[in-house]
Amino acid sequence: MSYVVTGATGHLGRLVVESLLAQGVPAAGITATGRRAEALAPLADRGVRTHVADYADAGALTKAFAGADVLVLVSGSEVGRRVAQHRTALEAAAAAGVTRVVYTSAPHADTTELVLAPEHRATEELVRASGLAWTIVRNNWYTENYEGVVAQARGTGEIVTSTGQGRVASATREDYAAGAAAVARGEGHEGRVLELSGDVAWSFDELAAAAAEALGRPVVHRSVSPEEHREALLAAGLDAGTAGFVVALDEGIRRGDLADATADLRTLIGRPTTPLATTLAGWAQR
Ligand SMILES: NC(=O)c1ccc[n+]([C@@H]2O[C@H](COP(=O)([O-])OP(=O)(O)OC[C@H]3O[C@@H](n4cnc5c(N)ncnc54)[C@H](OP(=O)(O)O)[C@@H]3O)[C@@H](O)[C@H]2O)c1
Repeated sequence: MSYVVTGATGHLGRLVVESLLAQGVPAAGITATGRRAEALAPLADRGVRTHVADYADAGALTKAFAGADVLVLVSGSEVGRRVAQHRTALEAAAAAGVTRVVYTSAPHADTTELVLAPEHRATEELVRASGLAWTIVRNNWYTENYEGVVAQARGTGEIVTSTGQGRVASATREDYAAGAAAVARGEGHEGRVLELSGDVAWSFDELAAAAAEALGRPVVHRSVSPEEHREALLAAGLDAGTAGFVVALDEGIRRGDLADATADLRTLIGRPTTPLATTLAGWAQR
């Protein structure tokens, strides 16, 4: 069985390649794609096949995917352009003779009001209609999304959000990558939608407590209204679009859009997901 991973120049895709290698797939059985040749070079040095291929370039994608049985389609990062990009990738996969696709989506993409979900929902429809066997892995938030917030708390002693009592069932990118690799390698996942998350849905009060423990200083969670949050972000120098986006994400968390802690990921990887405290302790040592 051979595998091709898109977004392998990014954080998650690279870790999916690492996980496939760690799970015993020979390097020659893996193709890594992305746009930045310099980020593919370290993988090529280890014997992984690499191809530079933009999602806009159907020909390059078809060439890169040729010979692979399974495509791990890591969702792109260019918000607003992703549905067309993912469509091109799926069409290229079919043209190249790929038989199965694993797509990294968003939690409850079919029903959630999460601000980032519409492109994932549309892509899931394309995946189902692609003619390929498919598995959708809906990744909850990365714990790493909060690395900057925790670093800031080292100086300020507070984490400011408009999440209220909302919870996030995050896991690390490494956990999700191991899950995606297990799905790609495993049997019996065709036609399944997996809700991948951390084992625990934590609140931002708990994030602040974990940050305090890791940093060795008091840290509090200050929950403000969405309007106060927007004003604070603008005062901190964010542009209006970014501030609005951050507030919209927090509104989703407040609603409970990311609170669903499932057993899907821990079952796939055969171990608990990485606890919040472990991840934060690692950051504090940097
Ligand atoms: N669950 C979460 O918390 C969360 C958070 C952030 C993002 N995401 C989603 O998960 C994906 C993976 O996360 P990540 O942290 O690995 O993101 P990342 O480090 O930003 O990686 C994004 C990858 O997408 C590739 N890409 C973007 N536009 C492309 C294009 N036009 N053609 C070909 N490749 C393109 C990038 O390639 P180059 O680097 O070579 O340009 C890179 O490899 C993101 O793209 C996003 O869809 C999820």
